[in-house]
Amino acid sequence: MSQGIVTASYIGATILFILALGGLSHPETSRRGNLYGITGMALALLVTIANVTANWGILVGGLLIGGTIGLILARRVQMTEMPELVAILHSLVGLAAVLVGFANFMDPTVHFEDSGEQKIHDIETYLGILIGAVTFSGSVIAFGKLSGKMSGNPILLPARHWLNLGLLLTTIWVGKMFVEQSAAGSGLIPLLIMTGIALLFGIHMVVSIGGADMPVVISMLNSYSGWAAAATGFMLNNDLLIVTGALVGSSGAILSYIMCRAMNRKFLAVIAGGFGTTTGASTADAGEQGEVVALDAPEVANLLADSKEVMIVPGYGMAVAQAQHIVCEITKALKAKKVNVRFGIHPVAGRMPGHMNVLLAEAKVPYDIVYEMDEINDDFPNIDVSIVVGANDIVNPSAQTDPDSPISGMPVLEVWKSKTTIVLKRSMATGYAGVQNPLFFKENTRMLFGDAKSSLDAVFKNL
Ligand code: TAP
Repeated sequence: MSQGIVTASYIGATILFILALGGLSHPETSRRGNLYGITGMALALLVTIANVTANWGILVGGLLIGGTIGLILARRVQMTEMPELVAILHSLVGLAAVLVGFANFMDPTVHFEDSGEQKIHDIETYLGILIGAVTFSGSVIAFGKLSGKMSGNPILLPARHWLNLGLLLTTIWVGKMFVEQSAAGSGLIPLLIMTGIALLFGIHMVVSIGGADMPVVISMLNSYSGWAAAATGFMLNNDLLIVTGALVGSSGAILSYIMCRAMNRKFLAVIAGGFGTTTGASTADAGEQGEVVALDAPEVANLLADSKEVMIVPGYGMAVAQAQHIVCEITKALKAKKVNVRFGIHPVAGRMPGHMNVLLAEAKVPYDIVYEMDEINDDFPNIDVSIVVGANDIVNPSAQTDPDSPISGMPVLEVWKSKTTIVLKRSMATGYAGVQNPLFFKENTRMLFGDAKSSLDAVFKNL
């Protein structure tokens, strides 16, 4: 295939990726965005494959194996398992960057006459493997935490900041050794040492982050996977990989910033670890907080039917219960009774960015009644009934009142300011951050215990 066609196709794929990102920024255009992304990726793959001149067997074999695994996973995965799937996919990007980096380093056909060029290439290889290894091990730990295979509690080593600093300085020193040795025709040992350090660093970075701060970690690993791909693109001299990696890297960085702002955290403080440590004060037993008042479905239906303003606040439990469709039915029924129903979405509700928006869009809830936290938080005093559907941490008032709480300082939806708050959950269990929620014990809070979908089915019948 001529170089001109390859370049033109790569530019086409790049434009499609940019259009995809633009489309994915709004629920109404997200399907189109997804389609652009698929088309761009198909174009990129086709041109890359057509450009390969040898080893067709290995290429087709790899594509078949990878494609089959991807297809099976995508068909099997439940919506609630998406966050951990995303984490494990990030780990594969990291692993690919590491393997490609080593393969390129050991490739006997890669030669540079100019020593400056050789140095730049070595630094690209070193950086690609470094970021790839951190992404790989960090994402595997994130997968463990999100899937519940590992505890969400932070593991804080003594002197962890010194440890991180030590690892960073060692990496720079080993990098210098690698560049020097590579010029002399060796360098594998420093590369292996750095890979080991980077893997340890990735593990340490993610285990020391508390449950409540996981959103930042996920978006950050997303960003790292992009930079790893971009570094690999420099190493392989592949413009498309550089641009695509940079797009993923920078959009992940913007998302990390948004997540940090949503949680009122400083990025560096999250990465250095230490948030999310639970203390006695914030994990007080339910008994110490007071009594909870439970209602049944007919009582909830009456309360809703008698209101003028209703705010629905969905959380992770709505995803678990798959209650989004019945939520939409109830919304329609209340609208028919002239009740003004709106949705309040917290930026870190659920387990992945935009989790609730995806579910509500799937159930065809109109976008114009779905509001972000900042848009509606001041409206709660005017709300007759707020219904909290399987949310916990994002409506926890202790974020504002308890400085010892792991979620202290995180902006929350102030549902307790509405006239009545109804909380739907199965038990008095804590949310992801593992902290007790004083909301459940407030005078104007009523609990509707049970699976959110079954509870709402019963409410709908009574409406
Ligand atoms: P959570 O605080 O995790 O609370 C979810 C609640 O849903 C639980 O208390 C649970 O109580 C209830 N629940 C579970 N299954 C249910 C079901 N079938 N029916 C009814 N209720 C059910 O969720 P949230 O309020 O959405 O907050 C999100 C948390 O996850 C934050 O701490 C956030 O930092 C963290 N996080 C977010 C992300 C992103 S990017 N969004 C990523 C990682 C972590 P019961 O067990 O008693 O039912």
